[in-house]
Amino acid sequence: MKPLKILIIDDERLIRWSFEKKLTSKGHKVFTSGSGEEGLKLFETHYPDLVFVDNHLPGIQGLEVISTIKEMNEDANIIFMTAYESVDVAVAAMKKGAFEYIRKPFSFDEIFVIAENIAEKINIKNELLLLRRQQKEEITFDSIVHESTVMKQIVQVSKKIAKTDATTILLLGESGTGKDVFARAIHNDSNRKTKPFVTINCSSLPDTLLESELFGHEKGAFTDAKKLKKGLYEIAEGGTVFLDEIGEISLTTQVKLLTALENRMIRRIGGTKDIPVDVRVIAATNKNLKESIQQKLFREDLYYRLQVFQIEIPSLRERKEDIAPFLSFFIALFNEMFRKKIKQIDPEAKKLLENYDWPGNVRELRNVVERAVILQSGTTLQVGALPCEINNMTPQSHTQNNCLIDFPEEGISLENIEKQIIVRALEMANYNQTKASKLLDISRDTLRYKKKKHNL
Ligand SMILES: Nc1ncnc2c1ncn2[C@@H]1O[C@H](COP(=O)(O)OP(=O)(O)OP(=O)(O)O)[C@@H](O)[C@H]1O
Ligand SMILES: [Mg+2]
Repeated sequence: MKPLKILIIDDERLIRWSFEKKLTSKGHKVFTSGSGEEGLKLFETHYPDLVFVDNHLPGIQGLEVISTIKEMNEDANIIFMTAYESVDVAVAAMKKGAFEYIRKPFSFDEIFVIAENIAEKINIKNELLLLRRQQKEEITFDSIVHESTVMKQIVQVSKKIAKTDATTILLLGESGTGKDVFARAIHNDSNRKTKPFVTINCSSLPDTLLESELFGHEKGAFTDAKKLKKGLYEIAEGGTVFLDEIGEISLTTQVKLLTALENRMIRRIGGTKDIPVDVRVIAATNKNLKESIQQKLFREDLYYRLQVFQIEIPSLRERKEDIAPFLSFFIALFNEMFRKKIKQIDPEAKKLLENYDWPGNVRELRNVVERAVILQSGTTLQVGALPCEINNMTPQSHTQNNCLIDFPEEGISLENIEKQIIVRALEMANYNQTKASKLLDISRDTLRYKKKKHNL
């Protein structure tokens, strides 16, 4: 285990002394403080990996110390210690973001386990960050998993388009088919790759904000415009702007976008001069734009402008040959992430996975494999580790899943189950935290705490 920096905040000298002695003997570096005030100063100077905070302190109290630490560093790992308080105090501490609470008197075995867990958590988190960074920055056509003839053709065509001067590309495909991955691969395979790749989700911002994000604004253009702000178009100069969910933009913004695409010039909001820009725009949507045109929600001229180079990624159920390579790819990924050793898939389970419809496409498959790798012990991925909608073959039950988990003989880690349930709730609630917390019958704060705990 990697040695940790640990801070103890407790007014009892004996406790501080024994913490220091025991933890130092395990190789950790220990700082101690008898008051909250001094403890906070130590936190600021040393940024410890783990903090033990007692509730009763001479000056500011334990709960407040927790809040202050969390304000300084949201990721801080805090263990709350109580002597005789009711559960309420412990719950309050958890709400404020404590990772765990322990009751006094405690044994140091308990403390060692906590330290081990935290070390493990920090480790996994670092790996995750690294993976994410690699995924974001290094996606090329080589990292696009594919086997089917149709995908081979699409990758071929996309490579060609990437190399051309084509300044606009339209990516179509259901949610989770890999539009994001393709956009990044195209950028990284183009001669724009050393320049920025900026992405904006058009559905996440109201109209005026979206425009100011894209085109920027001059100082004083509107009440909040205290400073000049460059838009993504200018920031991406020489590179690529990825406009995700283009089907959601308003008709007025569509006009402005079309003008920018045609003239290769933009004008900041409140500005008077046109600024020449050299960017490639990759637009993506899971909507049927032709239908949107008929419903007068999308401009036909913009559509024709965008679709000159169009790449349509088929749903996973239309390219079942890709399922097997995806399974191997994601099993390897999650084996590494969760230190598991899954080597093969039981033939029956494989059949179920290949016959399933995958309404959420590759994203759903990835989540299913993640869950299965966590739940499965041993080296063979069994039917029991698959979610009900797959092993019962009833896609209708997708949103109403009653049977939760098959219990393997060797047992299951409750922590992992909790994580899986939270992931499912978030998915079902479309990542809306309020809805997800209702589904789980917990408060939003608790959900936020648990998300943090599980690195979600
Ligand atoms: N061919 C592929 N190779 C490797 N990973 C893939 C591939 N296609 C999709 N993925 C993975 O599947 C997940 C979903 O893909 P992505 O985010 O690109 O979908 P999307 O089409 O942009 O979905 P949405 O419309 O919901 O934004 C991601 O985790 C991505 O890394
Ligand atoms: Mg996407």
